[in-house]
Amino acid sequence: MEYSIEVKHLVKKYRDVNALDDISFNVKKGEIFSLLGPNGAGKTTTINILTTLTQQTSGIAKVGGIDVLKDPVAVKAKIGWVSADIILDEDLTAMENLHLQARLQATKDWKTKAQGLLKTFGILESANKRISKFSTGMRKKVEIAMALISDPEIIFMDEPTIGLDVATRQMLWDLIRDVNKNHGKTILLTTHYMEEADELTDRIAIINKGKIIAIGTPTELKNKVGGTILDMELLPSFDKKSIKKSKSISKIEFRDDHAIITVKKDSDAVDILKKFDLKKIKTFKLTKPSLDTAFMKLTGSSINQDTDTDYRKLYSIIRNNTRR
Ligand SMILES: Nc1ncnc2c1ncn2[C@@H]1O[C@H](COP(=O)(O)OP(=O)(O)OP(=O)(O)O)[C@@H](O)[C@H]1O
Ligand SMILES: [Mg+2]
Repeated sequence: MEYSIEVKHLVKKYRDVNALDDISFNVKKGEIFSLLGPNGAGKTTTINILTTLTQQTSGIAKVGGIDVLKDPVAVKAKIGWVSADIILDEDLTAMENLHLQARLQATKDWKTKAQGLLKTFGILESANKRISKFSTGMRKKVEIAMALISDPEIIFMDEPTIGLDVATRQMLWDLIRDVNKNHGKTILLTTHYMEEADELTDRIAIINKGKIIAIGTPTELKNKVGGTILDMELLPSFDKKSIKKSKSISKIEFRDDHAIITVKKDSDAVDILKKFDLKKIKTFKLTKPSLDTAFMKLTGSSINQDTDTDYRKLYSIIRNNTRR
């Protein structure tokens, strides 16, 4: 197995705060991997260590096979990075921002690359407009183009869709998928949107208070905590006693003429259905657990997305206003 990112027993202490408390995970080549967690979980700290912006207290981090402490310059050459904050120069045009980034990374043939990226992202006609005239979605596109300009193997994105409206977020998801599939980039992103981790990423590490509490595909994580619920509406002729506890059934409940069965995975529900006389079942439905329930069960608290977004939006408005 080839890993793009390897993290072993990573610890980061800020005085009395354990920002990272012994975390380990690997990101496979070509994967979209997410760190999902609430405020203060340690997401940005992890990204900052992997992008060599800060150093760990202990533990090992390798990016593209290179140890971040041993050769940060070589790591930087392999990566692109999209910050949680907008980092563009407002007074410069999109092309000028891209040029600056290209110069920082000594990228050859930058102009053709920049134009190609802006074209793919559908904003080539705004290439020579100042960023101050750009919408938030367009700014994010320029930032992602900046991360891609040096053609890096691995892209880091810290909360790429924070504070964006639903349509813009959807548009960015498509763009991130495109960067992964068509540009062949491995992507590590952080998010505190369940939906984002669920829909966009191949694997998720749930992080809370500096610790990773679960790693897996969205389906694995949901199955781990919740289990699928098979709700069957039974006809009076159905013999309720024929439903018995088994290895695949973790819970049976009867409510009115319904039998509500919790199973470990979807395929178990199908096996169970096959055993019964379907003529005696009026209706049935499968309900899958959400990542939300998974998070709640694993951490004992909700990720509380809404309050978070409002606060972030406010912060972003204040920041943008003070800049002008
Ligand atoms: N430079 C710093 N000095 C002191 N403490 C810090 C510093 N940076 C982060 N921390 C603390 O480390 C912990 C993890 O912070 P981090 O920014 O990594 O979390 P996060 O998951 O990115 O949160 P958010 O969703 O708010 O961005 C927090 O308790 C934070 O207050
Ligand atoms: Mg953060």
